[in-house]
Amino acid sequence: MTNQQKYELLKQKRKEALLGGGKKRIENQHKKGKLTARERVELLLDEGSFKEIGAFVTHRARDFGMEKEKYLGDGVITGYGTIDGRIVYVFSQDFTVFGGSLSETFAEKIVKIMELAMKNGAPVIGLNDSGGARIQEGVVSLAGYADIFYRNTLASGVVPQISAIMGPCAGGAVYSPAITDFIFMVENTSYMFVTGPKVVKTVTHEEVTAEELGGASTHSMKSGVTHFACANEITCIQDIRKLMSYIPQNCEEDPPRLSYEPGDELRPKLNDIVPENPNEPYEMREVIEEVVDEGSFFEVKKDFADNIVTGFARLAGRTIGIVGNQPASLAGVLDINASKKGARFVRFCDCFNIPLLVFEDVPGFLPGTEQEWNAIITNGAKLLFAFSEATVPRITVITRKAYGGAYDVMNSKHIGADQNFAWPTAEIAVMGAKGAAEIIFKKEIQEAKDSEAKLLEKEAEYDGLFSNPYIAASRGYIDEVIMPDETRQRLIEAFMMVENKVQALPKKKHGNIPL
Ligand code: HXC
Repeated sequence: MTNQQKYELLKQKRKEALLGGGKKRIENQHKKGKLTARERVELLLDEGSFKEIGAFVTHRARDFGMEKEKYLGDGVITGYGTIDGRIVYVFSQDFTVFGGSLSETFAEKIVKIMELAMKNGAPVIGLNDSGGARIQEGVVSLAGYADIFYRNTLASGVVPQISAIMGPCAGGAVYSPAITDFIFMVENTSYMFVTGPKVVKTVTHEEVTAEELGGASTHSMKSGVTHFACANEITCIQDIRKLMSYIPQNCEEDPPRLSYEPGDELRPKLNDIVPENPNEPYEMREVIEEVVDEGSFFEVKKDFADNIVTGFARLAGRTIGIVGNQPASLAGVLDINASKKGARFVRFCDCFNIPLLVFEDVPGFLPGTEQEWNAIITNGAKLLFAFSEATVPRITVITRKAYGGAYDVMNSKHIGADQNFAWPTAEIAVMGAKGAAEIIFKKEIQEAKDSEAKLLEKEAEYDGLFSNPYIAASRGYIDEVIMPDETRQRLIEAFMMVENKVQALPKKKHGNIPL
């Protein structure tokens, strides 16, 4: 072969690799309303930045005539590129090649990317669209999955890992995304489940569609498995890029910082948000939006456990993670799902040097058999543990109720918060005035001529004494009682004050968070 012929061969192979499983299968993919693996990568990364690794890899299977059917790349496109100029490692499963199913070599390509990402301190983004284990390869394929799960675990807390589900994701394949930090799903074209509808019908006799069992809505609202449910693949990819703008490259770096021009930071609207009636709901998102840099709030797990709000935002250009009780849903009570949602978010922020801001208005933990029998004790402890263990800067603003154990849990001073503010409307007590009066003045109320009037009198007495922030402030549990309208200004200053916080936990192998 002449050199020219050799160059031609390379060109030809490159062309062939671009076609994946062939034109027909690409057309089928488009007909389903799905993009191809390559189109997704091109959209995800800065234009022209993608560099492929392993485009000529083929499988090594010899059974079932597989030795005659090979495709360059073997069903997964791997490589690196940039998002807003920052390096990310990417794999994108190609459904046009054996349904994106995972072979030995397919897994090796993903593992290679993950190891590069860990060594070089950059995020890994996986775009999943796969029929699961390559059936023709048997246990070799299962081994490949385990190799990935193991790397996912080693990489956890080292570099951010993001999974997008853009087609089927079934069987054990769901466990790689489950270990990663964030899962994105696309409405109507993606699903995740351990066993599909057919197996479900055989085992439990339930009739359920793939969408009901494991579609984006199911996992964003019911199970909480996914963090984001996106209307289509384009918005999904845009949201991944957006998420990246808030987070650092690895656990040693700080998140990206935008420039910020100091201006008038007073936010008068905040003075009118908390209603006069302490039992009336209000929208905590309004408080958040008013405090953070305009339009910067990016909510995580928006449709799951909406009695707690979690998300990223910027304050004076700097990324913060926000956890807020939501009085507009279940009065902001902490239940099992809210605790799990909050805890996982807090731990992500702590892994990746993102300071935490807590807005607190919580009447306590949700009572009842359903919660107790499903282990609100263990699950509530997750949030408590996550906050207590976090060494990033942590600030709390109590807007209204901070009752009972939930006062302790929601980033109180006692579990290591750096600055705790309260609005004048804060009520920091063991419980609400009415409940408290009914218990401690039970006898007096029963014996009174007019029990109702006595209850009101005692309620007012308790209310006057405890339903305020000043006892906590007198003990230093609250650093400062602030006007709502000064909140943004005070938070900017406070986060600046704790910017260089260094805190080491006692030497240990790792803690044992209640799982
Ligand atoms: C090999 C596969 C495959 C697989 C699909 N294909 N899944 N090849 N191994 N797992 C191939 C098909 O033969 C077909 O090839 C092409 O991909 C497209 O598949 P279709 O069935 O035509 O597509 P569609 O109708 O869209 O259905 C997609 C699907 C279905 C729902 C994913 O293919 C399916 O149910 N596949 C099997 C899923 C499964 O049981 N996987 C194993 C799960 S267990 P041609 O040549 O026609 O294009 C598992 C264990 C992991 O994953 C354990 C980890 C711990």
